[in-house]
Amino acid sequence: MLILENVSRSFREGAREHRVLDNVCARIESGAAVAIVGRSGSGKSTLLNVVSGIDHADAGRVELDGQVISGLREPERTRFRRQHIGFIYQFFNLVPTLNAEENVRLVLELNGVRGREARRRSAAMLAEVGLGDRLHSPIDAFSGGEQQRVAIARALVHEPQLLLADEPTGNLDEDTARHVFPLVMALVRKRGATLLLVTHDRSLAASADRVLEMRDGRLEPATALA
Ligand SMILES: Nc1ncnc2c1ncn2[C@@H]1O[C@H](COP(=O)(O)OP(=O)(O)OP(=O)(O)O)[C@@H](O)[C@H]1O
Ligand SMILES: [Mg+2]
Repeated sequence: MLILENVSRSFREGAREHRVLDNVCARIESGAAVAIVGRSGSGKSTLLNVVSGIDHADAGRVELDGQVISGLREPERTRFRRQHIGFIYQFFNLVPTLNAEENVRLVLELNGVRGREARRRSAAMLAEVGLGDRLHSPIDAFSGGEQQRVAIARALVHEPQLLLADEPTGNLDEDTARHVFPLVMALVRKRGATLLLVTHDRSLAASADRVLEMRDGRLEPATALA
């Protein structure tokens, strides 16, 4: 279970405080796939960053399967994120100087899995996203959709409980998005992981178990045709 309790986050703009997250509350069952929609600037990325511990809340509580993430200090928060959370970004964020297999393996190595075991798991994960024959290709040899598949493999190779995806299809053409989205969904469901996925595309969002909307700093059930 992922629990958000009165999570708030403000940013200072000159003399003014901008309250981006205003007492956000949510309870998300383990294994659920939840889509988050909302207009640009409504705080969707801020929310994912607070949940992952990349950013910190000013107040409130974030709890994942009994671990209070918001109560951890660096470097425990970083260690928890590395072990238990995966992240997929709009612009892939792969390491351009490493090949596909090395990008994926890096996550395992950061978690202390090394050598043959790390290679085996990275290769198997890349095979699952359909890139088993391109393990050693450099990142710039991949198309956008293929790079996102490498990034999906990287996000899941350490078997995280929670996958956070921020506009994972936002930089892909519609056709590619329609392949990448179900792939994320299928891999997450197979593992029983929880998914929080931000998207502008309500037709993609509709395949999630629940659609929530960031509105006025809160997370609410999405309005039908907004
Ligand atoms: N580090 C920061 N410093 C100052 N303001 C910030 C910071 N991060 C986010 N904000 C502000 O918080 C608000 C929400 O930003 P956020 O990136 O979370 O929106 P979003 O819903 O992800 O938007 P988009 O759909 O365009 O990605 C914006 O007004 C943004 O300017
Ligand atoms: Mg964003």
